[in-house]
Amino acid sequence: MAKYKIAWLPGDGVGIDVTEAAKIVLDRMALDAEYIHGDIGWEMWCQEGDPLPQRTLDMMKETDCAFFGAITSKGKDVSNQELAPELQGKGYSYRSPIVRMRQLLDLYICLRPCKAYAGNSLNYKDGIDLVVFRENTEGMYIGVEFDKVPDEFYAVKGAEKLPRDAAISIRAITPGGSERIVRAAFEYAAQHGRKKVTAVHKANVLRQTDGVFMDAARKVAAEYPEIQFDNANIDAMGMWLLKNPFNYDVVVTTNLFGDIISDLCAQMVGGLGFGCSGNIGSKYAVFEPTHGSAPKYAGQYKVNPIATILAAKMMLDWLGETDKAAELEGAVAAVIAEGKVRTYDMGGSNSTLEMAQAVAAKL
Ligand code: IPM
Ligand code: MG
Repeated sequence: MAKYKIAWLPGDGVGIDVTEAAKIVLDRMALDAEYIHGDIGWEMWCQEGDPLPQRTLDMMKETDCAFFGAITSKGKDVSNQELAPELQGKGYSYRSPIVRMRQLLDLYICLRPCKAYAGNSLNYKDGIDLVVFRENTEGMYIGVEFDKVPDEFYAVKGAEKLPRDAAISIRAITPGGSERIVRAAFEYAAQHGRKKVTAVHKANVLRQTDGVFMDAARKVAAEYPEIQFDNANIDAMGMWLLKNPFNYDVVVTTNLFGDIISDLCAQMVGGLGFGCSGNIGSKYAVFEPTHGSAPKYAGQYKVNPIATILAAKMMLDWLGETDKAAELEGAVAAVIAEGKVRTYDMGGSNSTLEMAQAVAAKL
């Protein structure tokens, strides 16, 4: 029996290209794992009305962790048009599978390291090395939305004047949810020799929800006197990150702000071809490239697999295969530093699989 069981979820679009690339590298490292394919993606939505079928969730429960590619998602009108005719008009509604996985499996940490590898001409500035901890289960992502104002809302102070046709999305932030993500950020800082944690919020306007988040952040920070703690408003943070990215080390924030700021950070280290994510809970984790399924490039083996290969590196770390993880990161760094093999985003013409083979050759 293999040491690890890994749910293998390529998804659709370029998710298929990049997971094939990651597999080349994992096979080269001879990771003692069994990879179990899971049905997930746009095709499942169209045929079954669920992009993340229950059988896939059940299979995931039998594995140690999952590796995920990417999935196409579209606006609500389009997604319903593409449903199989026999499923139309039966109330199926599309919800992002990755968001569902994060919530169903309580993967409360979205860890997004952003490191500028030397020699990458796409780096905004050389030497950037920061880590984003995004809360992954609550905030603006709880899925409580109204397409018009519910009657009972009119009793709420400040809501009296809302026009009936206002759409509403609810943001919920809990003390417990805030505390555990901030603690995860501080623990990471302590274990990785990071010096500072910055909590990002909009507490001057979102007084209640970000009040809860910042109270939790200050409480946890007090338990780690050896680590510097500061905070920034989300808007200012965007500006400061561009002005002086070296001022930041570990960044912790709520779900939507983390979604936004982590794309900004990814762009500073080469763009979505370099952004990797770990969705991590107390017992299970799902690793993925941060980018989407880029349908226009699907099957062309054109996109950069480095983000996905770095997600594999994160998975190795999480499994405790830290030597293999370090070796893999070294191989990625070496290929980037050499600059001989480059995908189109890096100004080259090598394919997804050639990039993966170049990394594998360094292992
Ligand atoms: C991400 C993505 C997802 C998110 C989308 C695909 C639902 O942007 O992982 O950052 O918003 O969390
Ligand atoms: Mg995002």
